[in-house]
Amino acid sequence: MRILEDYRAQNPGSHRAWEGASRFLPSGNTRSALFWQPFPLCLRRGEGSHNWDVDGNERIDFNFNNTTLILGHNHPKVVEAARAQWEKGTVLGAPTETEPRLAEEITKRLRGADRVRFTPSGTEANMQAVRVARAYSRKPLLAKCLGAYHGSWDAVPLTPDAVGIPPEVKDCTVYFPYNDAEAAEETIKKHRDKLAAVIVEPTMRDMTPRPGFLQTVREATEDNDVLLLFDEVISFRLSHGGAQALYGVTPDITAMGKIIGGGFPVGAYAATDEVMSPLSIPGADLPETASPILGFSGTFNAHPLAMAAGLTVMKEMKPAVYESMAEMGDEMRDGLRDVLAGEGVDAHVGGVGSLFSVAWTDREVMDHETSRTADRNLFNVFNLGMMNRGVFILGHPNVSAVQTKEDLEKALEAAEETVAEMKPLIKERAPHLLR
Ligand SMILES: Cc1ncc(COP(=O)(O)O)c(C=O)c1O
Repeated sequence: MRILEDYRAQNPGSHRAWEGASRFLPSGNTRSALFWQPFPLCLRRGEGSHNWDVDGNERIDFNFNNTTLILGHNHPKVVEAARAQWEKGTVLGAPTETEPRLAEEITKRLRGADRVRFTPSGTEANMQAVRVARAYSRKPLLAKCLGAYHGSWDAVPLTPDAVGIPPEVKDCTVYFPYNDAEAAEETIKKHRDKLAAVIVEPTMRDMTPRPGFLQTVREATEDNDVLLLFDEVISFRLSHGGAQALYGVTPDITAMGKIIGGGFPVGAYAATDEVMSPLSIPGADLPETASPILGFSGTFNAHPLAMAAGLTVMKEMKPAVYESMAEMGDEMRDGLRDVLAGEGVDAHVGGVGSLFSVAWTDREVMDHETSRTADRNLFNVFNLGMMNRGVFILGHPNVSAVQTKEDLEKALEAAEETVAEMKPLIKERAPHLLR
């Protein structure tokens, strides 16, 4: 196939790098999501909205480390903040002045969030948030949406058939389909006596909530004495107050990550004082042995570089910036729909705000079941075709605040050429997508 041949020809250095890495790393890398066929690109540098690989190819970035770099690569103010902290020390081994400032910035944006805990990743933010929910409620179960990703840890496999998790641990998780308000309500009611929390990504990957879905989950959790945890590790980028502000639903706990660390490893969870109470050291008159009900530590929690860089990003991200990113997102989604319609291809364009995506299916993608109807091979080939044309696009395509009009025009031009080039393959693999 031409797209594959062009990709190989354009990226010999990346191929060599991946082959070399495969001697030491399973699948040649450290993040399963960053392997793609026939081999991933090996990147060397990023600047603004562009990146460069080891072969010197320059591409417009629409990935930004899976939605992390909302101000693009190496934003001067973020670099300066990180450098200033670096010069004072990378990790100091005691609380710093920056972490409460970032926590304050986060609590200003979230309704009903008084306190914040920082972690080194979104995975750990969710893990710890669930532990707090269990400690607070004294109940063991967790409910989640089928197919939802909340990090790589045992309580939240994508589906119940995941391997490597003991059955006793699996028994503590129950599932319902995203966007199925009735099933969510039923699950919550059925397990209410043992259910500590429901974890939901308000916009599950590139899927958006049907009207009323999040509201029903909120009401059912409230009515049944169950905590609602929103995983906003990605969706916090959707507005100044995250997806919860966009959809007008306030959870009990919010987990975050990605953008709030300015490109450094980070995660956080925020909740009311009361829900966070298991973490609080009780009483003003501290007995010598005073300790919280629930202890939580982490050598790299609230990493000073992440706190300094993240605080700068949050200060730069005023409401108007989110609005202009959402406009660019609209432009990408509308443009991709036009490209597909123009080529007579029936694929689903998803996303909201600064997120956009193409799912190669004629179904409306709104839950795990419908997302599984998308052709993964066409998804991969589309990404390769885009990369061949200087557009770096992966699992979670997104625009950053520094994206230019020219970037969008070039990406849509590349999409048009790529879809045209893919048509014989679509005819062969998924003729039902051709009109
Ligand atoms: C919705 C969601 N939750 C949690 C995580 C895990 O975050 P991290 O990769 O920082 O551990 C991710 C990562 O992509 C995510 O998309």
